[in-house]
Amino acid sequence: MKNAAALEKHGFNVSRIVLGCMGFGGGWNNDPLTADDLKKARAGVEAALEAGITMFDHANIYTMGKAEQVFGQVLKESPGLRDRIVLQSKCGIRFEEGPGRPHRFDFSEEHILSSVDEILTRLGIETLDILLLHRPDPLMEPEEVASAFSKLKQAGKVKGFGVSNMSPAQMRLLRSAWNEPLLVNQLELNLLKLDWVNAGVHVNQAAGLKDNFADGLLEYCRMEGVQVQSWGPLAKGLFTGKDVSDQPENVRKTAALVKHMAEERGTSLEAIVLAWLMRHPAGIQPVIGTTNPERIRACAEADHVTLTREEWYDLYITSRGVRMP
Ligand SMILES: NC(=O)c1ccc[n+]([C@@H]2O[C@H](COP(=O)([O-])OP(=O)(O)OC[C@H]3O[C@@H](n4cnc5c(N)ncnc54)[C@H](OP(=O)(O)O)[C@@H]3O)[C@@H](O)[C@H]2O)c1
Repeated sequence: MKNAAALEKHGFNVSRIVLGCMGFGGGWNNDPLTADDLKKARAGVEAALEAGITMFDHANIYTMGKAEQVFGQVLKESPGLRDRIVLQSKCGIRFEEGPGRPHRFDFSEEHILSSVDEILTRLGIETLDILLLHRPDPLMEPEEVASAFSKLKQAGKVKGFGVSNMSPAQMRLLRSAWNEPLLVNQLELNLLKLDWVNAGVHVNQAAGLKDNFADGLLEYCRMEGVQVQSWGPLAKGLFTGKDVSDQPENVRKTAALVKHMAEERGTSLEAIVLAWLMRHPAGIQPVIGTTNPERIRACAEADHVTLTREEWYDLYITSRGVRMP
């Protein structure tokens, strides 16, 4: 599978498609892991590796830590696997931890440091390749974050750092205290939620008032060499086989167009949806959230599909449901 260019520049030779691990580990509760959870994780990881996927995305909160825990078990039973893959995780979100303790974000040094220790323990590894700050904390102090990053790096616990769901201004604020590049920004980008494309198209138009995407974000990442990752790239299967009979017309038409293009090219529905994201010059890395081996293989077919400009616009315009200005 082709590599993710922006990460390659920093020495991470990883596949363009990433396996998101939010679906591993069973339910979002504190129940113990089951044999079924392990079987599912093993099958998903195996399918990904066979398809050429070498990067895996976690977060400390996924299934309350169980996604990392079960992945750690897969690593333990597969000698040599750790060295063949790149592991990314996130911290900074805290769920309610008891009465009067709100669900909140926390970029304090203490929380970042302890989160990484817990991530390493659950995964059973000594070094995490990439740590992302999950969602912007309004109380973020760049110097404090930079101090945490620097301690983690010096201790050999994390190789590189990035962010998720952040604006260019927030990234610049962090960079004012952190002298190394932010490697990644992971954002919700897909063929359903189009604000990330619309925001650029609607400059200087009233339609732009409705776009929910930070101004200049993709441009900033492209200029700074930040690897853009898409979470939710399959839009939960809306264009790749889910029943859309009760969906709005634009969704139904887009699903039909995806099917038509897939048939025409002899590829999977997932390949078309992901190839649409990957055709964008920001060099997006889709972080696929499926745990189904068959769907993982279907996603990997995107590596062989390059949409024409016309096909790309056809999908975009059909999904936005409104002609270009
Ligand atoms: N940074 C962030 O804030 C953030 C937020 C959310 C997620 N993430 C990351 O991004 C990854 C992907 O996110 P996501 O899971 O929301 O997005 P996704 O890849 O768009 O959706 C995957 C989900 O859709 C289901 N699905 C896919 N195709 C389907 C179909 N044809 N019919 C029925 N169900 C279908 C999958 O079920 P099956 O498993 O059964 O295929 C899975 O539950 C996560 O694993 C996580 O690593 C990051």
